[in-house]
Amino acid sequence: MKISEKLELPCGAVIKNRFLKSALTEGLASEDACANHRHVNLYDKWAKGGSGILVTGNVQVDHRYIERPGNVVIEGEQTNEQISALANWAKAGTQQNTHLWMQISHAGRQTPYTINKSSVAPSPKRLSKLLGILKFSEPNELKHSEILDIIDRFIHTAKVAKQTGFTGVQLHSAHGYLLSEFLSPDINQRTDEWGGSIQNRSRLLISIIEGIREKVGNDFPISVKLNSSDFQKGGFSHEESIEVSKILNETSLDLLEISGGTYEGFAALDLQLASPNQSRIIKPARSTIAREAYFLKYAEEMKKHIQIPLAVTGGFRSTKGMNEALESRACDIIGLGRPLCPEPDIVNELLSGEKESATLYENQVSFGPGILGLNSPINYIKANNKATQVFWCYRQILKMAEGKNVDPKMSLLKATINHFIDDAKGSKAYRNYWKI
Ligand SMILES: Cc1cc2nc3c(=O)[nH]c(=O)nc-3n(C[C@H](O)[C@H](O)[C@H](O)COP(=O)(O)O)c2cc1C
Repeated sequence: MKISEKLELPCGAVIKNRFLKSALTEGLASEDACANHRHVNLYDKWAKGGSGILVTGNVQVDHRYIERPGNVVIEGEQTNEQISALANWAKAGTQQNTHLWMQISHAGRQTPYTINKSSVAPSPKRLSKLLGILKFSEPNELKHSEILDIIDRFIHTAKVAKQTGFTGVQLHSAHGYLLSEFLSPDINQRTDEWGGSIQNRSRLLISIIEGIREKVGNDFPISVKLNSSDFQKGGFSHEESIEVSKILNETSLDLLEISGGTYEGFAALDLQLASPNQSRIIKPARSTIAREAYFLKYAEEMKKHIQIPLAVTGGFRSTKGMNEALESRACDIIGLGRPLCPEPDIVNELLSGEKESATLYENQVSFGPGILGLNSPINYIKANNKATQVFWCYRQILKMAEGKNVDPKMSLLKATINHFIDDAKGSKAYRNYWKI
Protein backbone atom coordinates (compact mmCIF):
# COMPACT_ATOMS: atom_id res chain seq x y z
CA MET A 1 0.00 0.00 0.00
CA LYS A 2 1.31 3.41 -0.99
CA ILE A 3 0.21 5.11 2.22
CA SER A 4 2.64 2.97 4.23
CA GLU A 5 5.70 3.77 2.10
CA LYS A 6 8.55 5.87 3.44
CA LEU A 7 9.46 9.17 1.84
CA GLU A 8 12.87 10.83 1.77
CA LEU A 9 12.72 14.62 1.67
CA PRO A 10 15.28 16.75 -0.22
CA CYS A 11 17.09 17.56 3.07
CA GLY A 12 17.58 13.82 3.68
CA ALA A 13 14.96 13.42 6.45
CA VAL A 14 12.99 10.19 6.10
CA ILE A 15 9.26 10.18 6.83
CA LYS A 16 8.00 6.79 8.01
CA ASN A 17 4.75 6.84 6.00
CA ARG A 18 2.71 9.14 3.78
CA PHE A 19 0.56 10.79 6.48
CA LEU A 20 0.85 14.35 7.71
CA LYS A 21 -1.36 15.58 10.52
CA SER A 22 -2.07 19.05 9.22
CA ALA A 23 -1.92 22.01 11.57
CA LEU A 24 -4.86 22.23 13.99
CA THR A 25 -4.75 25.28 16.22
CA GLU A 26 -4.70 23.93 19.76
CA GLY A 27 -5.63 27.00 21.81
CA LEU A 28 -4.06 25.37 24.87
CA ALA A 29 -1.71 28.05 26.19
CA SER A 30 -2.76 30.28 29.08
CA GLU A 31 -2.56 34.05 28.74
CA ASP A 32 1.26 33.84 28.96
CA ALA A 33 1.19 32.14 25.50
CA CYS A 34 3.64 29.41 26.58
CA ALA A 35 3.53 25.70 25.82
CA ASN A 36 2.43 23.56 28.79
CA HIS A 37 1.53 20.04 29.92
CA ARG A 38 -1.62 20.10 27.80
CA HIS A 39 0.47 20.21 24.61
CA VAL A 40 2.41 17.24 25.95
CA ASN A 41 -0.74 15.17 26.59
CA LEU A 42 -2.17 15.99 23.18
CA TYR A 43 0.97 15.25 21.18
CA ASP A 44 1.63 12.09 23.16
CA LYS A 45 -1.74 10.88 21.86
CA TRP A 46 -1.18 12.05 18.30
CA ALA A 47 2.40 10.72 18.07
CA LYS A 48 1.09 7.29 19.05
CA GLY A 49 -1.63 7.66 16.38
CA GLY A 50 0.73 6.79 13.53
CA SER A 51 1.21 9.90 11.32
CA GLY A 52 4.67 10.25 9.79
CA ILE A 53 4.56 14.02 10.34
CA LEU A 54 2.67 16.02 12.95
CA VAL A 55 2.46 19.70 12.12
CA THR A 56 1.63 21.76 15.20
CA GLY A 57 -1.13 24.34 15.26
CA ASN A 58 0.07 27.81 14.38
CA VAL A 59 2.74 29.20 16.71
CA GLN A 60 2.85 32.98 16.53
CA VAL A 61 5.86 35.23 16.04
CA ASP A 62 4.31 38.36 17.56
CA HIS A 63 2.06 38.43 20.65
CA ARG A 64 0.14 41.42 19.26
CA TYR A 65 -1.14 39.60 16.18
CA ILE A 66 -2.32 36.13 17.04
CA GLU A 67 -5.05 33.97 15.57
CA ARG A 68 -6.89 33.17 18.84
CA PRO A 69 -6.29 33.16 22.59
CA GLY A 70 -4.40 30.03 23.55
CA ASN A 71 -1.86 30.31 20.70
CA VAL A 72 1.75 29.71 21.69
CA VAL A 73 3.94 32.75 20.96
CA ILE A 74 7.72 32.61 20.55
CA GLU A 75 9.41 36.00 20.47
CA GLY A 76 12.56 37.35 22.02
CA GLU A 77 14.95 35.52 24.31
CA GLN A 78 13.24 32.44 25.76
CA THR A 79 13.41 31.76 29.50
CA ASN A 80 14.60 28.37 30.80
CA GLU A 81 10.97 27.52 31.64
CA GLN A 82 9.83 28.35 28.11
CA ILE A 83 12.64 26.30 26.60
CA SER A 84 11.90 23.28 28.75
CA ALA A 85 8.14 23.50 28.06
CA LEU A 86 8.83 23.49 24.32
CA ALA A 87 11.33 20.64 24.73
CA ASN A 88 8.70 18.56 26.60
CA TRP A 89 6.21 19.21 23.82
CA ALA A 90 8.81 18.19 21.20
CA LYS A 91 9.69 15.03 23.14
CA ALA A 92 6.05 13.93 23.25
CA GLY A 93 5.47 14.66 19.57
CA THR A 94 8.56 12.89 18.26
CA GLN A 95 7.87 9.51 19.88
CA GLN A 96 7.76 6.48 17.61
CA ASN A 97 10.01 8.08 14.99
CA THR A 98 7.41 10.75 14.27
CA HIS A 99 8.42 14.06 12.76
CA LEU A 100 7.10 17.08 14.67
CA TRP A 101 7.12 20.30 12.69
CA MET A 102 6.27 23.64 14.23
CA GLN A 103 3.88 25.70 12.13
CA ILE A 104 5.01 29.33 12.34
CA SER A 105 2.60 32.14 11.63
CA HIS A 106 1.59 35.78 11.94
CA ALA A 107 -2.14 36.43 11.88
CA GLY A 108 -1.93 39.75 10.00
CA ARG A 109 -5.34 41.27 9.39
CA GLN A 110 -7.05 38.07 10.59
CA THR A 111 -6.18 39.04 14.18
CA PRO A 112 -9.52 38.97 16.04
CA TYR A 113 -10.87 42.33 17.22
CA THR A 114 -11.29 40.81 20.69
CA ILE A 115 -7.49 40.39 20.86
CA ASN A 116 -6.35 43.64 19.30
CA LYS A 117 -8.39 46.45 17.79
CA SER A 118 -5.61 47.20 15.32
CA SER A 119 -3.38 44.88 13.31
CA VAL A 120 -0.93 45.01 10.44
CA ALA A 121 -1.18 43.90 6.82
CA PRO A 122 0.55 44.64 3.52
CA SER A 123 -2.16 47.25 2.82
CA PRO A 124 -4.86 48.77 5.05
CA LYS A 125 -7.77 46.67 3.79
CA ARG A 126 -10.09 45.35 6.48
CA LEU A 127 -11.65 41.90 6.50
CA SER A 128 -15.42 41.55 6.68
CA LYS A 129 -17.07 39.82 9.64
CA LEU A 130 -16.84 36.01 9.87
CA LEU A 131 -20.15 34.14 10.16
CA GLY A 132 -21.68 37.62 10.10
CA ILE A 133 -20.61 38.25 13.73
CA LEU A 134 -16.86 37.82 14.36
CA LYS A 135 -15.10 41.13 13.86
CA PHE A 136 -11.46 41.62 12.81
CA SER A 137 -9.02 44.35 13.65
CA GLU A 138 -8.31 47.41 11.53
CA PRO A 139 -5.02 46.77 9.69
CA ASN A 140 -2.26 49.36 9.34
CA GLU A 141 0.05 49.18 6.35
CA LEU A 142 3.39 47.65 7.35
CA LYS A 143 6.47 49.84 7.05
CA HIS A 144 9.58 48.47 5.34
CA SER A 145 11.40 48.26 8.70
CA GLU A 146 8.47 46.36 10.22
CA ILE A 147 8.60 43.81 7.38
CA LEU A 148 12.30 43.25 8.09
CA ASP A 149 11.42 42.74 11.77
CA ILE A 150 8.81 40.12 10.81
CA ILE A 151 11.44 38.22 8.78
CA ASP A 152 13.73 38.19 11.84
CA ARG A 153 10.87 36.98 14.04
CA PHE A 154 10.12 34.01 11.78
CA ILE A 155 13.80 33.08 11.66
CA HIS A 156 14.10 33.38 15.45
CA THR A 157 11.07 31.15 16.06
CA ALA A 158 12.42 28.51 13.66
CA LYS A 159 15.77 28.59 15.49
CA VAL A 160 14.02 28.04 18.82
CA ALA A 161 12.00 25.19 17.28
CA LYS A 162 15.17 23.41 16.22
CA GLN A 163 16.94 24.14 19.50
CA THR A 164 14.08 22.62 21.53
CA GLY A 165 13.77 19.38 19.55
CA PHE A 166 11.16 20.03 16.87
CA THR A 167 12.31 18.18 13.78
CA GLY A 168 11.11 20.69 11.19
CA VAL A 169 9.13 23.85 10.61
CA GLN A 170 6.24 24.87 8.42
CA LEU A 171 5.56 28.45 7.36
CA HIS A 172 1.86 29.23 7.29
CA SER A 173 1.39 30.98 3.98
CA ALA A 174 -2.23 29.97 3.44
CA HIS A 175 -5.76 30.77 4.66
CA GLY A 176 -5.44 34.56 4.65
CA TYR A 177 -2.83 35.01 7.38
CA LEU A 178 0.00 37.52 6.91
CA LEU A 179 2.28 35.55 4.56
CA SER A 180 -0.62 34.74 2.25
CA GLU A 181 -1.89 38.33 2.48
CA PHE A 182 1.39 39.41 0.88
CA LEU A 183 0.81 36.96 -2.00
CA SER A 184 -2.68 38.27 -2.74
CA PRO A 185 -2.98 41.07 -5.34
CA ASP A 186 -6.25 42.01 -3.69
CA ILE A 187 -4.91 42.43 -0.14
CA ASN A 188 -1.38 43.49 -1.09
CA GLN A 189 -1.68 46.76 -3.00
CA ARG A 190 1.83 47.98 -2.26
CA THR A 191 3.93 49.66 -4.91
CA ASP A 192 7.34 49.03 -3.28
CA GLU A 193 9.56 45.92 -3.50
CA TRP A 194 7.03 43.91 -1.40
CA GLY A 195 4.08 44.42 -3.77
CA GLY A 196 3.16 44.47 -7.45
CA SER A 197 4.67 41.57 -9.42
CA ILE A 198 4.35 38.02 -8.10
CA GLN A 199 8.14 38.04 -7.51
CA ASN A 200 7.72 41.07 -5.25
CA ARG A 201 4.69 39.64 -3.45
CA SER A 202 6.65 36.39 -2.81
CA ARG A 203 9.68 38.27 -1.48
CA LEU A 204 8.64 38.07 2.17
CA LEU A 205 8.07 34.30 2.06
CA ILE A 206 11.30 33.65 0.14
CA SER A 207 13.36 35.90 2.44
CA ILE A 208 12.04 33.98 5.44
CA ILE A 209 12.84 30.57 3.91
CA GLU A 210 16.36 31.68 2.98
CA GLY A 211 16.95 33.22 6.41
CA ILE A 212 15.75 30.10 8.20
CA ARG A 213 17.83 27.77 6.03
CA GLU A 214 20.94 29.76 6.86
CA LYS A 215 20.30 29.26 10.60
CA VAL A 216 19.02 25.66 10.74
CA GLY A 217 21.44 23.98 8.32
CA ASN A 218 20.84 21.78 5.30
CA ASP A 219 19.33 18.71 6.98
CA PHE A 220 16.38 20.34 8.76
CA PRO A 221 13.01 20.12 6.95
CA ILE A 222 11.37 23.41 5.96
CA SER A 223 7.84 23.29 4.64
CA VAL A 224 5.33 25.86 3.39
CA LYS A 225 1.54 25.65 3.50
CA LEU A 226 0.29 27.43 0.40
CA ASN A 227 -3.13 28.16 -1.00
CA SER A 228 -3.83 26.55 -4.36
CA SER A 229 -5.96 29.67 -4.74
CA ASP A 230 -7.73 32.09 -2.39
CA PHE A 231 -10.94 31.33 -4.33
CA GLN A 232 -11.73 35.04 -4.27
CA LYS A 233 -12.41 37.03 -7.41
CA GLY A 234 -9.40 39.33 -7.85
CA GLY A 235 -7.46 37.39 -5.18
CA PHE A 236 -4.49 34.99 -5.30
CA SER A 237 -5.38 32.76 -8.27
CA HIS A 238 -4.45 29.21 -9.16
CA GLU A 239 -2.16 30.50 -11.94
CA GLU A 240 -0.35 32.70 -9.43
CA SER A 241 -0.10 29.84 -6.99
CA ILE A 242 1.72 27.84 -9.68
CA GLU A 243 4.03 30.81 -10.29
CA VAL A 244 4.84 30.94 -6.57
CA SER A 245 5.45 27.18 -6.52
CA LYS A 246 8.00 27.65 -9.35
CA ILE A 247 9.74 30.36 -7.31
CA LEU A 248 9.69 28.06 -4.25
CA ASN A 249 11.13 25.28 -6.39
CA GLU A 250 14.34 27.31 -6.65
CA THR A 251 14.70 27.41 -2.84
CA SER A 252 15.70 24.59 -0.49
CA LEU A 253 12.11 23.80 0.50
CA ASP A 254 11.38 20.20 1.53
CA LEU A 255 7.61 19.98 1.35
CA LEU A 256 4.82 22.12 -0.03
CA GLU A 257 1.41 21.53 1.55
CA ILE A 258 -1.49 22.59 -0.63
CA SER A 259 -4.68 23.99 0.84
CA GLY A 260 -6.92 26.90 -0.15
CA GLY A 261 -9.16 29.79 0.86
CA THR A 262 -9.19 32.48 3.53
CA TYR A 263 -11.65 33.51 6.27
CA GLU A 264 -13.72 34.94 3.40
CA GLY A 265 -15.14 31.63 2.17
CA PHE A 266 -13.25 28.85 3.97
CA ALA A 267 -12.36 26.68 1.00
CA ALA A 268 -9.84 24.88 3.27
CA LEU A 269 -12.79 23.15 4.92
CA ASP A 270 -14.87 22.91 1.72
CA LEU A 271 -17.46 25.21 3.26
CA GLN A 272 -19.93 27.50 1.60
CA LEU A 273 -20.33 30.06 4.34
CA ALA A 274 -23.28 32.37 4.52
CA SER A 275 -20.86 35.29 4.29
CA PRO A 276 -21.88 38.70 2.94
CA ASN A 277 -19.23 38.35 0.23
CA GLN A 278 -20.72 35.31 -1.54
CA SER A 279 -20.53 37.05 -4.90
CA ARG A 280 -16.73 37.23 -4.62
CA ILE A 281 -16.24 33.54 -3.85
CA ILE A 282 -15.08 31.08 -6.53
CA LYS A 283 -15.97 27.42 -5.94
CA PRO A 284 -12.97 25.01 -6.08
CA ALA A 285 -12.89 22.75 -9.16
CA ARG A 286 -13.11 19.03 -8.41
CA SER A 287 -10.53 16.44 -9.35
CA THR A 288 -11.50 13.48 -11.46
CA ILE A 289 -9.66 11.09 -9.14
CA ALA A 290 -10.06 10.91 -5.40
CA ARG A 291 -12.90 13.39 -5.55
CA GLU A 292 -12.94 13.54 -1.78
CA ALA A 293 -9.69 15.57 -1.78
CA TYR A 294 -10.84 18.87 -3.14
CA PHE A 295 -7.45 20.48 -3.95
CA LEU A 296 -5.97 17.48 -5.75
CA LYS A 297 -6.71 18.86 -9.20
CA TYR A 298 -4.64 21.94 -8.38
CA ALA A 299 -1.80 19.81 -7.00
CA GLU A 300 -1.75 17.66 -10.14
CA GLU A 301 -1.24 20.79 -12.21
CA MET A 302 1.44 22.12 -9.86
CA LYS A 303 3.31 18.81 -9.94
CA LYS A 304 4.03 19.35 -13.64
CA HIS A 305 6.15 22.38 -12.77
CA ILE A 306 8.02 21.53 -9.58
CA GLN A 307 10.15 18.83 -7.96
CA ILE A 308 9.42 19.69 -4.31
CA PRO A 309 7.39 16.89 -2.65
CA LEU A 310 3.73 17.85 -2.35
CA ALA A 311 1.23 17.23 0.42
CA VAL A 312 -2.46 17.83 -0.23
CA THR A 313 -4.81 18.51 2.66
CA GLY A 314 -8.57 18.82 2.64
CA GLY A 315 -11.19 16.12 2.34
CA PHE A 316 -9.07 12.94 2.28
CA ARG A 317 -10.90 10.24 4.22
CA SER A 318 -10.60 6.80 2.53
CA THR A 319 -7.53 4.66 1.90
CA LYS A 320 -8.84 4.14 -1.64
CA GLY A 321 -8.84 7.88 -2.34
CA MET A 322 -5.47 8.32 -0.66
CA ASN A 323 -3.75 5.45 -2.48
CA GLU A 324 -5.18 6.58 -5.82
CA ALA A 325 -3.87 10.09 -5.24
CA LEU A 326 -0.40 8.77 -4.37
CA GLU A 327 -0.32 6.23 -7.20
CA SER A 328 -1.31 8.83 -9.78
CA ARG A 329 1.55 10.95 -8.40
CA ALA A 330 -0.78 13.91 -7.88
CA CYS A 331 0.78 14.22 -4.42
CA ASP A 332 3.41 12.53 -2.24
CA ILE A 333 1.86 13.01 1.19
CA ILE A 334 -1.72 12.86 2.48
CA GLY A 335 -2.69 15.67 4.86
CA LEU A 336 -5.39 14.95 7.43
CA GLY A 337 -6.93 17.53 9.75
CA ARG A 338 -10.43 17.11 11.19
CA PRO A 339 -10.41 13.28 11.34
CA LEU A 340 -7.58 13.41 13.91
CA CYS A 341 -9.84 15.21 16.41
CA PRO A 342 -12.57 12.62 17.04
CA GLU A 343 -10.34 9.70 15.87
CA PRO A 344 -6.76 10.26 17.05
CA ASP A 345 -5.79 6.67 16.12
CA ILE A 346 -7.24 6.79 12.62
CA VAL A 347 -3.88 6.70 10.82
CA ASN A 348 -2.87 3.46 12.55
CA GLU A 349 -6.29 2.04 11.74
CA LEU A 350 -6.02 2.98 8.06
CA LEU A 351 -2.47 1.65 7.82
CA SER A 352 -3.38 -1.69 9.41
CA GLY A 353 -6.50 -2.05 7.26
CA GLU A 354 -8.70 -2.18 10.34
CA LYS A 355 -10.64 0.73 8.81
CA GLU A 356 -10.99 1.73 5.16
CA SER A 357 -12.05 5.26 5.88
CA ALA A 358 -12.16 7.87 8.58
CA THR A 359 -15.68 8.48 9.87
CA LEU A 360 -17.41 11.31 8.00
CA TYR A 361 -18.31 13.29 11.10
CA GLU A 362 -18.66 16.43 9.00
CA ASN A 363 -21.81 14.85 7.52
CA GLN A 364 -23.14 13.83 10.93
CA VAL A 365 -22.42 16.49 13.54
CA SER A 366 -25.17 19.14 13.58
CA PHE A 367 -27.25 21.41 15.81
CA GLY A 368 -30.17 19.01 15.51
CA PRO A 369 -32.57 17.38 13.08
CA GLY A 370 -34.69 19.05 10.40
CA ILE A 371 -34.54 22.81 10.27
CA LEU A 372 -31.55 22.84 12.65
CA GLY A 373 -29.61 20.25 10.66
CA LEU A 374 -27.03 20.00 7.91
CA ASN A 375 -29.76 20.13 5.25
CA SER A 376 -31.65 23.02 6.82
CA PRO A 377 -33.63 25.05 4.28
CA ILE A 378 -32.25 28.14 6.04
CA ASN A 379 -28.89 28.77 4.44
CA TYR A 380 -27.41 30.54 7.48
CA ILE A 381 -28.16 27.56 9.74
CA LYS A 382 -27.00 25.05 7.14
CA ALA A 383 -23.67 26.84 6.59
CA ASN A 384 -23.02 27.48 10.25
CA ASN A 385 -23.69 23.86 11.15
CA LYS A 386 -20.56 23.01 9.16
CA ALA A 387 -18.54 26.06 10.18
CA THR A 388 -19.08 25.50 13.89
CA GLN A 389 -17.82 21.92 13.55
CA VAL A 390 -14.43 23.60 13.88
CA PHE A 391 -15.37 24.46 17.49
CA TRP A 392 -16.47 20.85 18.01
CA CYS A 393 -12.97 19.84 16.87
CA TYR A 394 -11.45 22.35 19.32
CA ARG A 395 -13.36 20.71 22.16
CA GLN A 396 -12.15 17.23 21.15
CA ILE A 397 -8.58 18.59 21.17
CA LEU A 398 -9.19 20.04 24.63
CA LYS A 399 -10.39 16.66 25.89
CA MET A 400 -7.22 14.92 24.70
CA ALA A 401 -5.09 17.71 26.13
CA GLU A 402 -6.73 17.19 29.52
CA GLY A 403 -5.94 13.49 29.36
CA LYS A 404 -9.57 12.50 28.70
CA ASN A 405 -11.10 10.42 25.94
CA VAL A 406 -12.55 12.14 22.88
CA ASP A 407 -16.34 12.30 22.71
CA PRO A 408 -17.69 11.94 19.17
CA LYS A 409 -21.24 12.18 20.57
CA MET A 410 -20.55 15.68 21.91
CA SER A 411 -23.33 18.18 21.20
CA LEU A 412 -22.40 20.74 18.54
CA LEU A 413 -24.46 23.42 20.24
CA LYS A 414 -22.80 22.83 23.60
CA ALA A 415 -19.34 22.76 21.99
CA THR A 416 -20.05 26.06 20.21
CA ILE A 417 -21.38 27.81 23.32
CA ASN A 418 -18.49 26.56 25.47
CA HIS A 419 -16.02 27.65 22.81
CA PHE A 420 -17.41 31.19 22.71
CA ILE A 421 -17.40 31.44 26.52
CA ASP A 422 -13.77 30.25 26.75
CA ASP A 423 -12.74 32.44 23.83
CA ALA A 424 -14.21 35.57 25.43
CA LYS A 425 -12.58 34.80 28.80
CA GLY A 426 -9.28 33.87 27.15
CA SER A 427 -9.22 37.03 25.01
CA LYS A 428 -9.85 39.25 28.05
CA ALA A 429 -7.16 37.54 30.11
CA TYR A 430 -4.73 37.76 27.18
CA ARG A 431 -5.33 41.48 26.63
CA ASN A 432 -4.85 42.17 30.34
CA TYR A 433 -1.68 40.10 30.54
CA TRP A 434 -0.04 41.70 27.49
CA LYS A 435 -1.60 45.13 28.14
CA ILE A 436 -3.02 45.34 24.62
C1 LIG B 1 -10.00 22.69 14.36
C2 LIG B 1 -9.18 23.14 13.20
C3 LIG B 1 -8.04 23.91 13.41
C4 LIG B 1 -7.20 24.29 12.34
N1 LIG B 1 -6.07 25.01 12.57
C5 LIG B 1 -5.21 25.27 11.56
C6 LIG B 1 -3.95 25.89 11.80
O1 LIG B 1 -3.59 26.24 12.93
N2 LIG B 1 -3.14 26.08 10.74
C7 LIG B 1 -3.47 25.68 9.47
O2 LIG B 1 -2.68 25.82 8.54
N3 LIG B 1 -4.65 25.08 9.22
C8 LIG B 1 -5.52 24.86 10.23
N4 LIG B 1 -6.68 24.19 9.97
C9 LIG B 1 -6.93 23.65 8.62
C10 LIG B 1 -6.43 22.20 8.56
O3 LIG B 1 -5.04 22.12 8.72
C11 LIG B 1 -6.80 21.52 7.23
O4 LIG B 1 -6.21 22.27 6.19
C12 LIG B 1 -8.33 21.45 7.04
O5 LIG B 1 -8.94 20.97 8.22
C13 LIG B 1 -8.72 20.54 5.87
O6 LIG B 1 -8.31 19.22 6.07
P1 LIG B 1 -9.35 18.07 6.52
O7 LIG B 1 -10.42 18.00 5.47
O8 LIG B 1 -8.54 16.82 6.60
O9 LIG B 1 -9.90 18.51 7.84
C14 LIG B 1 -7.56 23.89 11.03
C15 LIG B 1 -8.73 23.15 10.81
C16 LIG B 1 -9.53 22.79 11.87
C17 LIG B 1 -10.76 21.97 11.61
